[in-house]
Amino acid sequence: MRIAVIPGDGIGGEVVPAVLPALELLGDHFGLGLSYRIFDWGAERWLAERVGLPPDALDLLASDYPAILLGALGDPRIPDMAHGRDILLGLRRGLDLYVNYRPFTPRGGDRTIALFRENTQGLYAGVGGTVSHGRHPAVAIDECVYTRETVEKFLRYCLRTLSESGRERVTLVHKSNAVPHTGRLWQGVFRAELAGFPGLVGSEEYVDSFCYHLVRDPSPYEGIVASNLFGDIVSDIGAALMGGLGLAASASVCPETGCALFEPVHGSAPDIAGRGIANPYAAATAVALMLDHLGHPRAAAPLRRALAAAARTDSATPDLGGHGTTGTFMADVMKRLEKDLADDRPEPRT
Ligand code: NAD
Ligand code: IPM
Ligand code: MN
Repeated sequence: MRIAVIPGDGIGGEVVPAVLPALELLGDHFGLGLSYRIFDWGAERWLAERVGLPPDALDLLASDYPAILLGALGDPRIPDMAHGRDILLGLRRGLDLYVNYRPFTPRGGDRTIALFRENTQGLYAGVGGTVSHGRHPAVAIDECVYTRETVEKFLRYCLRTLSESGRERVTLVHKSNAVPHTGRLWQGVFRAELAGFPGLVGSEEYVDSFCYHLVRDPSPYEGIVASNLFGDIVSDIGAALMGGLGLAASASVCPETGCALFEPVHGSAPDIAGRGIANPYAAATAVALMLDHLGHPRAAAPLRRALAAAARTDSATPDLGGHGTTGTFMADVMKRLEKDLADDRPEPRT
């Protein structure tokens, strides 16, 4: 089971190396036969060689790596994020990872809300352009492009997953009052696909009012399905409801090929990069999502337990109110994990 590891930029290069020992420990303990290879794609390589996603990368990943672990991309020296789009959006689109699962558990509650974001089209389709008169762009266009085929397979996968997880409510987040063409396509497909899942009750909310309600009281929501940009924005709100971007992780998958990419929801956080205080919780949760996806939920469970316990202590990073560092937090997590595995419970608690 080969894993491609792309630490990337900023705190990506801090949190990803910090969580790899946990992956190794779990792989050894459960005999998963995991190995990984680190790829240096990111800002440094872009600035030195103008290489973002190397030309053979997609073929290599698709054929040899069933899972990718990514830190974050983004560097103040590349303000237009050209390398980030090339690498990150290149991976999402190039591997057709059209389902982006971004679960979040609002603080004070024990229920995880399953947010699904379409990950390859919409305003991220890359369709658009600028017309310049003189030195400045006079016209700028980014088209929101959705195909029925993608919306159908995305929503069908989300509804099936929600229904298999025992959830009963699903909300479509849209803006069809102002953005009618793609909005109506999504509504039509949502209603049609819901008919195949009698156990699910669907609702539809405008994204602005949805955000208002979610922030005021997330408790009514169980499953959320959203187009690319709305899902991006809502996932940062979800992270805030959890207690910070340091906690939220995501899985981007292509259900047909099984290709999958796991990453924190957060970015490269230049404001704290290099100080050793980035919270590795989200990156470690990305590892847990990866273990689930690879068919090893028994290996993911002790990692989640250790993370949750360590997050409540002073070894946690400052964003969680602790006085720790990336290193002290993961040292605490590893200690708990080793003890948990040594206790060798036959049935891990979930
Ligand atoms: P960000 O997510 O990097 O940071 C937002 C805020 O959250 C910052 O104050 C940061 O310090 C804090 N934060 C984020 N992760 C944290 C962690 N693990 N521990 C503690 N605090 C954490 O968003 P931004 O500042 O808007 O973006 C920075 C760069 O990252 C930009 O170049 C952006 O394009 C890029 N970005 C990349 C990804 C990705 O690679 N998936 C995601 C979001 C943003
Ligand atoms: C995310 C990020 C990316 C996105 C950016 C960096 C292109 O915000 O993964 O949430 O918009 O998808
Ligand atoms: Mn985002």
